Amino acid sequence: MTRRPDLGALIADLPTARFGRPLFVHESVPSTNDLARRLAEEGAGEGTAVLALEQTRGRGRLGRSWASPPGGLYLSVVLRPRLPPARWPLLSLAVALGAASGAAEASRQQVMLKWPNDLVTSGAKVGGILLEAAADHAVAGIGINASSPPAALPPWGGVLGVALPPLLRAVLVHVEQSVDLVYAEAGQVLDRWRARCLTLGRHVRVLGAEVVEGVAEDIDGDGALVVRTHSGARRIVAGDVSVREAVG
Ligand code: BTN
Repeated sequence: MTRRPDLGALIADLPTARFGRPLFVHESVPSTNDLARRLAEEGAGEGTAVLALEQTRGRGRLGRSWASPPGGLYLSVVLRPRLPPARWPLLSLAVALGAASGAAEASRQQVMLKWPNDLVTSGAKVGGILLEAAADHAVAGIGINASSPPAALPPWGGVLGVALPPLLRAVLVHVEQSVDLVYAEAGQVLDRWRARCLTLGRHVRVLGAEVVEGVAEDIDGDGALVVRTHSGARRIVAGDVSVREAVG
């Protein structure tokens, strides 16, 4: 049986201005994104957060499910974007960057990013972000396999190997910094993203509305992946990327 983590000290001593204020903690819920969305609809401010120790119907990107056994971090944060809607995809990059920085700090491991928002350690996906947008708010759902039982994860899933309280604290601190930075100077978030990104410079195959193959060249100012194909550069705004060999 997994021991319930002690989050009291963390909540009392959280060094953030908005993120995790307040933080609602649940034993088990279908999806923290649903609870956070309801709070946002009732007027909750940016940073209001919902944590669950387990999800029974965790959602992933592209309509997939997200395995959510006890031992993982399942966190959703209300955002009140201070960006024009066309630039909201940058929020998802900012949250992924903050989550990766927090995960790296708490675990003392290198945590890389795979476009659009996978957290990867030692070649395995250990976390992901699901940003769900509405007219006047967005909910950023963060899932990280902190110390999840490997048998409960899909074959491609890895485990970070870190306790929940320090990971939660580091993630809230870094995601807040990263979201503040995207509001103030989005270019800096993109630079930091590129530096942590394992997709760039690699042959990729993107499964989206169509299949695109080529070399991942850049992440542009709106957060799209730019892929150099035989017929020229293509901007990818959504899809699933498989990374092949490094180029040159
Ligand atoms: C992905 O597919 O990579 C994104 C996974 C996002 C999972 C998180 S866990 C907290 C929040 N609640 C959900 O149902 N999904 C997100």
